[in-house]
Amino acid sequence: MGTGYVGLVTGACLAALGHEVICYDVDVLKLDRLRAGDIPFYEGGLHELVTAAVSSGRLRFSHVMATAILADTEAVFLALPTPQGADGRADLRIVDQVMTEIVAHMAPMTRERGCVIVTKSTVSVGTTGRLAGVVRAAGLTGVVVANNPEFLREGSAVSDFMAPDRIVVGCDTDQARAQLQSVYQPFIDQGVPFMVVDYASSELIKYASNTFLAARVAFINEMAVLSEAVGANIQEVSRGMGLDPRIGHRFLRPGPGYGGSCFPKDVAALAAIGRDYAVPLGLVSAVAASNHVHKTWVLNKITTVLTGPVGDDSERKKAVSAEPKPLLGKNITVLGLAFKANTDDIRDSVAVSIAMALVDAGAIVTVFDPEAMANARGVLGDTVRYAADAETSLTDADLGVVLTEWASFQMLPLATIRDRMRYPVIVDMRGLWDSSVMKTLGFSYFSIGIAMATLTKELSE
Ligand code: UDX
Repeated sequence: MGTGYVGLVTGACLAALGHEVICYDVDVLKLDRLRAGDIPFYEGGLHELVTAAVSSGRLRFSHVMATAILADTEAVFLALPTPQGADGRADLRIVDQVMTEIVAHMAPMTRERGCVIVTKSTVSVGTTGRLAGVVRAAGLTGVVVANNPEFLREGSAVSDFMAPDRIVVGCDTDQARAQLQSVYQPFIDQGVPFMVVDYASSELIKYASNTFLAARVAFINEMAVLSEAVGANIQEVSRGMGLDPRIGHRFLRPGPGYGGSCFPKDVAALAAIGRDYAVPLGLVSAVAASNHVHKTWVLNKITTVLTGPVGDDSERKKAVSAEPKPLLGKNITVLGLAFKANTDDIRDSVAVSIAMALVDAGAIVTVFDPEAMANARGVLGDTVRYAADAETSLTDADLGVVLTEWASFQMLPLATIRDRMRYPVIVDMRGLWDSSVMKTLGFSYFSIGIAMATLTKELSE
């Protein structure tokens, strides 16, 4: 139920595993595009998977409940939007509405076999148990519920689904456990841990995992800011930390701040759950606050580099911050608009919010992203200029800022872009290039988490 990032990947992968799958959505036009293998978002490997599953007949699409849930349907996965609602809580209206429609459709049905209704979208702790009550109240014999959180990262969703670290199932009936075990049998046979826990633990595993990952990002970003102040190199700090296997190297890269459709929403939702149960989650609230502060720091860094002064010329600094349009007339290029590489998703993208802030500060902003230009145009409109490619985007730029870690940016011909720019000044919020190489090439290169003081000497020379 739902053909977004989670629903379509789940449906196509379950079909690839050999199941008979029907993907339901209310958007008829979208379903026509999907039948033709036209995926409305960028996700590596999904087009091939969907077209293979459609041609094998294992994957079908329907906007009609009566053809989506049949008498022999064994599992119904709810992969519906659960956006951030008022006060940070997950907005479950769509889940509840679809659940009502499912129950109404199933009530008169004589089922040939049992069916499990599964919350796969990230739902507030307590939701699956509540839906179990809805099923009981409707007297739906043979129907049980379960929670089965997804751990898919955009940009690697298909590989994350087909090679899971763990499968988590929250249920309290043998029927639900058995039915989900049969859905995931191929992974169980490969030795993937199949955890069966209670509803609340399953739901909390999802929120706790995402918030913990967001905390890692917020932490390394704070250490990056501190590294610049104390003259350290965050890339060395991160490497030194990661050599402790309890910390590990992954998910410890500094950036402009975490974004996307999951982290900001899930961190806010977990904080709201803490408030609802009167359990103070100070660390959870601090993660969101830290990420917000970091986004502001990124903008100040760009402004400082462009308008100086660096060091302790506080008079000048005060004057600059007082100006309403401190970047008036400056040509700034933004490289990267997607919230991270390998996706076209700009939901809660820090890159987009920084591009907007640069425009507000008076800059003439040119943007480029390999995949997210169409989505970005829907938000940025004609407030920025859209370049055909990364090289062109840097023509006559006073400063280029890297906000998304696309591999194609790493391969840019640096000497060429240096000559294209009016001033070879790069603020790199993803640490794509080597500082000494950039220095040799004559760039004023400011890489996040590497002390600006040392870099600025070159700028003044
Ligand atoms: C996340 C979780 O990783 C995934 O398990 C869950 O199912 C959905 O939410 P996603 O939101 O697609 O996946 O992106 P992710 O790769 O986690 O990155 C989230 C944000 O953190 C991005 O803005 C990314 O740029 C940032 N990030 C991530 C860093 O800044 N540094 C890192 O080292 C890792």
